[in-house]
Amino acid sequence: MVQIAVMGYGTVGSGVVEVLTKHADSIAVRAKEQINIKYILDLRDFPGSPFESKFIKSFDTILNDPEVRIVVEVMGGLHPAYDYVKMCLENGKSVVTSNKELVAAKGAELLKIAQRNNLNFLFEASVGGGIPIIRPISQCLAANEVVEIAGILNGTTNFILTKMIREKMGFDEALALAQKLGYAERNPAADIEGADACRKICILASLAYGKHVYPEQVHTEGITKITLRDVEYAAAWGGVVKLIGMVKRVPSGKVQIIVCPMFLPRESQLANVDDVFNGIMVRGDSTGDVVFYGKGAGKLPTASAVVADVIDCVKHFKARKYLYWDDGAPDYVEDYLENETAMYICLKSESDVSGKVKELFGTAEQITRKHAEPGEAAFVTPVMKEKDIVERIARLSESGVEILNTIRIGDL
Ligand code: HSE
Repeated sequence: MVQIAVMGYGTVGSGVVEVLTKHADSIAVRAKEQINIKYILDLRDFPGSPFESKFIKSFDTILNDPEVRIVVEVMGGLHPAYDYVKMCLENGKSVVTSNKELVAAKGAELLKIAQRNNLNFLFEASVGGGIPIIRPISQCLAANEVVEIAGILNGTTNFILTKMIREKMGFDEALALAQKLGYAERNPAADIEGADACRKICILASLAYGKHVYPEQVHTEGITKITLRDVEYAAAWGGVVKLIGMVKRVPSGKVQIIVCPMFLPRESQLANVDDVFNGIMVRGDSTGDVVFYGKGAGKLPTASAVVADVIDCVKHFKARKYLYWDDGAPDYVEDYLENETAMYICLKSESDVSGKVKELFGTAEQITRKHAEPGEAAFVTPVMKEKDIVERIARLSESGVEILNTIRIGDL
């Protein structure tokens, strides 16, 4: 019998307890051992819960119990999760976590501690909820050089954008619904401002290229500026707006990495990833494109990935799962303004700007929409360095044009 502890009884934690209890027998067969939840750490009380006797409020109870060999951290947030996980690893306990904030900020350090102590630190659930992606990148695709990874990595924002696109639902209403369904972060700013997607692409980038990319190194834009007007222009252009996290290695050895909304053409596989679903495209030099698709958030999908890691830990008490990346470096990420992209630009002007646009951008593609307001115009620039686009947009503004929004065009 293997004793484990679960830290955090929120959406994911309660899902983990549910799955481990509901599937106890089949899990025991797969793990070749019975798994028992000895403690559940949470500061709240859960009177009447069938697990009432397992709840504890002090982390020290877990730390000081040598019987507990695996700790599941599903509290979220950096502190105290980081401190607890570090102490567990330093005290002989393997750790499984769904906490992307923790892995994105401290992954290299915690992996090193786990390695030093011959323990496992597993985090399949930290990216893509129930979608297998950490193991596929670290094991199944290990023969490849990863050329690029691009994905829809946040279920909440994808849910909101889908509601805006399909039902013309307002942003706030769609967000409230995502919260009610248990998709959103405790503070949904992390979803809608792109921080959550940023953490996930950092984890994938670190894993794929072997060196830590920290969230503060990544240019990140969320979806708060996306309006129904942009959604309509995207449709007129032949696509949809999606929040994309993207990373690729450039010949200098640095990485280009960004999180931002993009127009994707309808025929792109990622354009058809809707609702709370996530889609992650991994472009390998041998495999070509491999796409992973499934529910990227929610109680049971995420719990499924956590419990699979627990099973893996039980099966690998004597052998470490090979997951590792080095510390990052301040100059490892290329300035996003060096990236090449085409750009949708929506503007408002009292006079005709087509001449000015042609002068600045050459052959820009005009797009029109049914409900355009007087003076409104939109176009898509040719592919250029982003810094050149920014400089030309500044010149447009100087000439008295009001820029309503700009969105990159995804070549995916
Ligand atoms: N808030 C996250 C999302 C949860 O919406 O994708 C899963 O990481």
